[in-house]
Amino acid sequence: MTEQTVPARGAVIGCGFFAANHLAAWRDITGANVIATCDLDRQKAELGAELVGGAKAYTDLAEMLRSEQLDFVDIVTTMETHEAIIDQCAEHAVPAIIQKPLAPDLAGAIRIVERMAAAGVPLMIHENFRFQRPIREVWQTLRRGAIGRPVYAEIQFRTNHDIYAKQPYLAETERLIISDVGVHVLDVARFLLGEATTLYCRAASIRPGIRGEDMMSAVLGHANGATSIVAACYQSKRPQEIFPQCLITVEGTAGSIELRPDYEMVVRSGDEVTRHDVNPTPLDWAEPPWHAVQESVLRVNEHWLQCLGEGKTPETSGFDNLKTFRLVEAAYRSVENGHAVDPTTFATIPEDPALKGRLTPG
Ligand SMILES: NC(=O)c1ccc[n+]([C@@H]2O[C@H](COP(=O)([O-])OP(=O)(O)OC[C@H]3O[C@@H](n4cnc5c(N)ncnc54)[C@H](O)[C@@H]3O)[C@@H](O)[C@H]2O)c1
Repeated sequence: MTEQTVPARGAVIGCGFFAANHLAAWRDITGANVIATCDLDRQKAELGAELVGGAKAYTDLAEMLRSEQLDFVDIVTTMETHEAIIDQCAEHAVPAIIQKPLAPDLAGAIRIVERMAAAGVPLMIHENFRFQRPIREVWQTLRRGAIGRPVYAEIQFRTNHDIYAKQPYLAETERLIISDVGVHVLDVARFLLGEATTLYCRAASIRPGIRGEDMMSAVLGHANGATSIVAACYQSKRPQEIFPQCLITVEGTAGSIELRPDYEMVVRSGDEVTRHDVNPTPLDWAEPPWHAVQESVLRVNEHWLQCLGEGKTPETSGFDNLKTFRLVEAAYRSVENGHAVDPTTFATIPEDPALKGRLTPG
């Protein structure tokens, strides 16, 4: 159970597959009070309301926003619905945390971020990979200087898990893996190595019957001189299935870090090699293999509430996420034209006019 200093009344919009994790996480945060749920499907809205121990269930967002006094909404719908939902939140000046991908394309993502900024309303993107404990541990090890200056990284999400069983809409999505999980791994690359100034990407559609690409491999050149290889695949038949784990290697001038299967982190610092168990903290509602993702949902929600209470800019604010989204868009551009793209020059994104300094969880 996590203690929040400021009690906050929230509503969850979209009570489908992934929202069950959001609802369970909110239940775990003392001071977070989900008083309403909303889904176009009444049964789902009611089930969501039950999951938080009795909220009011709505099927009409406008009615919910008119009727409830909300400190925030948590939007867990798919990307093509985000802009219309955000418009209504901005109109009612309700702060919002919203699932990735923010929009179907960068132009839509910019409109969403600018709409909330113009209304003066906080916005955070539920970009949860960097909040997963194993990935946070890699970042902390890097930050401590244990491997010197990072020069090379590999960030991989490769699986043969049937993602279409629980998320059938993915089979119909034109922009599939770069947008769906590429956005996470590209964000991890930014998180660990900073902004990229060049990106080359290849993609392919392997599984029969799907609309978009289900394999992507990108090479990024970072402003600090480091190179990263970022790869994801939904049709990867490796001997050990490790869904939904992300494997990471970072090499530096004085050592390296490996995040290996089953949440083992191995660090070489100088001549010393150490092994660390970086399994996620067990939660009573979390279930393998999803537990690292589920724990990260809790950490994201905690971070959002803390920022909301303290008036700080979240680590993955709308403006920050545009820098990640720019990598997604650059990857599609690179796939299309077969060339490397400079993500910083091919598209202009707005800077946060009121950056108050990021709050970074430990
Ligand atoms: N971060 C992660 O690890 C992770 C994992 C899985 C899914 N996701 C993201 O979560 C989001 C939701 O995915 P999902 O698989 O749960 O989708 P889903 O289709 O199962 O659920 C979405 C729900 O939103 C409802 N909805 C749509 N428009 C609405 C509106 N205007 N008002 C109220 N309800 C509305 C739908 O009826 C549906 O029940 C997606 O953006 C997906 O990418 C993130």
